[in-house]
Amino acid sequence: MADDIVWHDHKVVRSQRAENKNQKPCLLWFTGLSGSGKSTIANALDVALHSRGYHTFLLDGDNVRHGLCSDLGFSDEDRVENIRRIGEVSKLFADAGLIVLSAFISPFNSDRRLVRKLFPAGEFIEVFMDASLETCESRDPKGLYQKARSGEIKQFTGIDSPYEVPAHPELRLDTSRMSVDDCVDALVAYLLEREMIARKD
Ligand code: ADX
Repeated sequence: MADDIVWHDHKVVRSQRAENKNQKPCLLWFTGLSGSGKSTIANALDVALHSRGYHTFLLDGDNVRHGLCSDLGFSDEDRVENIRRIGEVSKLFADAGLIVLSAFISPFNSDRRLVRKLFPAGEFIEVFMDASLETCESRDPKGLYQKARSGEIKQFTGIDSPYEVPAHPELRLDTSRMSVDDCVDALVAYLLEREMIARKD
């Protein structure tokens, strides 16, 4: 970082931006293999929170890689940079007072730890989408596992690129057993219990 760039404090601070929205910002970080249900569950939770009147924003790998990260591929270094950028963008959205949902494979523990460190305690919620490689491969929603097995795609997570299972995620969702509604209920219950959101009857 350049030494002659000085941090500029903003007049409207993070807590005021959140207060205006009547909510507490946080980041729900969905991690797991391709096909484990990250985008599906993040989208369903986004709908559930939005319909309760919360201000949210959803970031996901397939979309962000069309723009902000379109210069990045799937080497280890590129994945590290991908997650670093998403972590910083997620922090900016949370600073804007939003509940952020980020769905990225994010295969490395060290990168997820770095994003966690950007957030105050309790605001980074790691959600491990715990579906086995067999399950994800049998779903193969984009036909990518088939391409990876035939060698058409290289460095595919779970095939010839590693995925490090989170040691202490805040939530673990077994999407081979739980329905989309079950997963959303578990996430909403977690947010209510931690008072990240309030009960609205
Ligand atoms: S990450 O590893 O850097 O976190 P990210 O979540 O952004 O990955 O992107 C994953 C998506 O890119 C997958 O859902 C899949 O659709 C697509 N993809 C294309 N090539 C690969 C690959 N080699 N490994 C994993 N995903 C890939």
